[in-house]
Amino acid sequence: MKKDIAYLHVKKQEQQPITMLTCYDYPTACMQDEAGIDIVFVGDSVGTNVLGYKNETEVTMEDMCHHLKAVRRGVTDAYLLVDMPYAADRDAKHAVANAKRFLSHGADGVKLEGGLEKVPIVTALNEQGIETCAHIGHNPQIHGTKAATHGKTFAKAKQLIESARALADAGVKLIVLEKITEEVSRIITENLAVPTIGIGAGRFCDGQVLVINDILGIGPPLKHAKRYQDYKHLTFEAICGYKEEVANGTFPTDANTSHISPDKLARLQRWLKLKS
Ligand code: KIV
Repeated sequence: MKKDIAYLHVKKQEQQPITMLTCYDYPTACMQDEAGIDIVFVGDSVGTNVLGYKNETEVTMEDMCHHLKAVRRGVTDAYLLVDMPYAADRDAKHAVANAKRFLSHGADGVKLEGGLEKVPIVTALNEQGIETCAHIGHNPQIHGTKAATHGKTFAKAKQLIESARALADAGVKLIVLEKITEEVSRIITENLAVPTIGIGAGRFCDGQVLVINDILGIGPPLKHAKRYQDYKHLTFEAICGYKEEVANGTFPTDANTSHISPDKLARLQRWLKLKS
């Protein structure tokens, strides 16, 4: 069953946690969809996690479209969300044009970073019927890769709560809360009809999102994440095993090999002899 925004909103109403993961390629998209992840998300973290960029500001619309198309081919049921890369939503005109480009490649909705300053952009996208996900707290496009926790002072907490309210009033359908104190995330979650998805935002959001590399154990350990696999170690072991076996001649074996029939081989050898 295809999951749409109404489905995600019902999950909030019924207090069933929403699951979301970043995804950058086709095979991972197939696995996430099969596992029943609710929101498969092509994040601009593709830049630092896959493309070797130093930070999110290097990611382009072309990068995002390329990865979105790969992920799209692997998703059947999940809600497919894609990130607006840096400056792609710098004004309403660019935001609408870029969002429409994503929708033409199969995205269900677009995520954009920022607080109150993004209200006019969300309004413009909403007027075009484009589903949006806000992203407040730590914003990698704005704050860089070093993430401090948001919502520790009265003023900052108030600002976050007001931003979330204004974005919800402007029509966002989801809100990502990144690196926000658990208490403030809880207030936002309990006071909005819009589902909140936390990353480093505690236990009381309507759902959780993590970067796929972090759950697989590819990146460094992070306080807000949990490693469910030691992929880096497993992959390194596989690469070394392959290298070793090719170098010492134990790969390939006969089991990895195809043969021509003896009669055809004999004919080939006769032909070669005649030619020389
Ligand atoms: O791009 C990304 O990975 C994100 C998550 C932190 C939600 O925006």
